[in-house]
Amino acid sequence: MVKGTYHGAHAWCTPGHGGVIAEDRAHIVTFSWNRIDELRELFRAHKGDIAGVIMTPYHHPTFAPSEMPAPGFWTAVEALCREEGALLVIDDVRAGWRLSIRGSHDFFGFTPDIVVFCKAIGNGFPISAAVGKEEFKAAASRVFLTGSYWNGAACMAAALKTIEIMERDDAVGIMRRMGERLGQGPSELGDRYGTPMKLTGPPAIPYLILDDDEDLYKIQRLAAEVTRRGSFFHPHHNWFMSAAHTEADVDESLGHAEDALKAMRS
Ligand SMILES: Cc1ncc(COP(=O)(O)O)c(C=O)c1O
Repeated sequence: MVKGTYHGAHAWCTPGHGGVIAEDRAHIVTFSWNRIDELRELFRAHKGDIAGVIMTPYHHPTFAPSEMPAPGFWTAVEALCREEGALLVIDDVRAGWRLSIRGSHDFFGFTPDIVVFCKAIGNGFPISAAVGKEEFKAAASRVFLTGSYWNGAACMAAALKTIEIMERDDAVGIMRRMGERLGQGPSELGDRYGTPMKLTGPPAIPYLILDDDEDLYKIQRLAAEVTRRGSFFHPHHNWFMSAAHTEADVDESLGHAEDALKAMRS
């Protein structure tokens, strides 16, 4: 897995330390985002021993800017996994259906073996899905898995309806356009009012960083000022554009940001 990536709260990947023993991580090795040389070195050091590579479609850690894949990165990762016989597993829990309704791998142009979706697919209902190539179905069916709400029919109905509406309304296009409208706004305002900043990541899932803000207090102050005025700017996590956002909403948020920056300057 990639250093600094959040894949969930299970012991093998949790960013916390409590309740985790060394054995939980005994079979996990890590490399840095966009460093195909490091991944290649892991395959060399653990020859024939790496079952799979799990990654998010672009790097979206918390408390740090988002990083898009460098040109050729995904082609190289995919080729390496095929060459070494390792499964390429994509954690599309956060970005899934926000860049492409077919999954973020479609947006970036590569083919994983297994993809995990959650969040957007139920539009707020608790549902997740692990999907993959036909050839892995038999092995997957031997893994015991169940839970109290395993067959929650309402969530499945919600997910089916969500797909239908997202396709009908081109929700992905709306989120991209609204994100693009937000686009340069924060950086232009930041320059104007003496708090340089920029959005990172794709327009539909932006992440804001401020210059000279090592301890992240400046962004917390900005987020608090904006929130006080009625828009929510998360200081340490991606923001999510939604198909319900309108141009007026985006413009209103930029207005709140401008007022917040004026207040900070004074
Ligand atoms: C990229 C990513 N992977 C995995 C998870 C974990 O999903 P869940 O909280 O449904 O276990 C999250 C949750 O925030 C996430 O953002």
